[in-house]
Amino acid sequence: MSETHKFVVGASPEGAADARSAARAVRAMFTSIAPRYDLLNHLLSFNVDRMWWRRSAHAFAHILAQSDSRVLDLCCGTGDMTFALRKQAGKCSPQILGADFSHAMLQRAHSKSLGNLSENGKPATPRWIEADALCLPFPDRHFSLVTSAFGFRNLADYDAGLREIVRVLKPGGECGILDFSEPKGIMGRVYRIYFKQVLPRVGTLLSGVRGPYAYLPNSVERFPGPQEMRERMRRAGFCEASWIPYTFGIAGLYRGKK
Ligand SMILES: C[S@@+](CC[C@H](N)C(=O)[O-])C[C@H]1O[C@@H](n2cnc3c(N)ncnc32)[C@H](O)[C@@H]1O
Repeated sequence: MSETHKFVVGASPEGAADARSAARAVRAMFTSIAPRYDLLNHLLSFNVDRMWWRRSAHAFAHILAQSDSRVLDLCCGTGDMTFALRKQAGKCSPQILGADFSHAMLQRAHSKSLGNLSENGKPATPRWIEADALCLPFPDRHFSLVTSAFGFRNLADYDAGLREIVRVLKPGGECGILDFSEPKGIMGRVYRIYFKQVLPRVGTLLSGVRGPYAYLPNSVERFPGPQEMRERMRRAGFCEASWIPYTFGIAGLYRGKK
């Protein structure tokens, strides 16, 4: 979001009048594209998404290497970020939980995890839970790490989402929010043509659902830029907040420490 944009509370899909109806519309949207979500994700990102999940998981290797860590992947969808965390943990066995409020997305995550084994031969299956990121069913100071990949931007209230992450994190716990950004310069101009003109058309055609792939570029445009996000993170209670751009700033990882 450019500095001239007005203050944005959270995601606002077309037709949403308030936070409650925005959340309902977001859930309905992801539920409607759940069957083709993975295919479209990989196709429309030219498979770069896999690298972003891997890189984000790697950033928290020190936490994932501790078997007593508790890790929450928020807005986990069909689970690819959760699986990247599990893979990064290797032989260690931190408790890894994926949470999402779309039952259909979680069902796909669950079926993808069946039969997965970790390097030590133990079941490498994260646990899945249906939950709203704005009202998490966990006690205060519970997790060592909370991540969210391409999910946080869809929350109906960003500040409430950050406060809820801070609440469930232990003191010293860390947070990683991977999401799209708006690259600058020539790369930005080329990318915007793809993101705003090509992607919505191809996404709509292949998913057979109107709406979600037009919402995507709009939601990225509304989303606070790195400077504002870092300020919001500090206001929510993170003592450290940083942003690392990925792939010319098309995406990036916000890191926070409580
Ligand atoms: C773009 S998908 C990202 C899925 C996955 N993390 C990935 O990287 O592919 C966004 C997910 O956020 C979930 N979501 C959005 N708002 C949520 C909320 N308030 N609580 C829980 N999940 C939410 C949606 O249901 C959807 O599955």
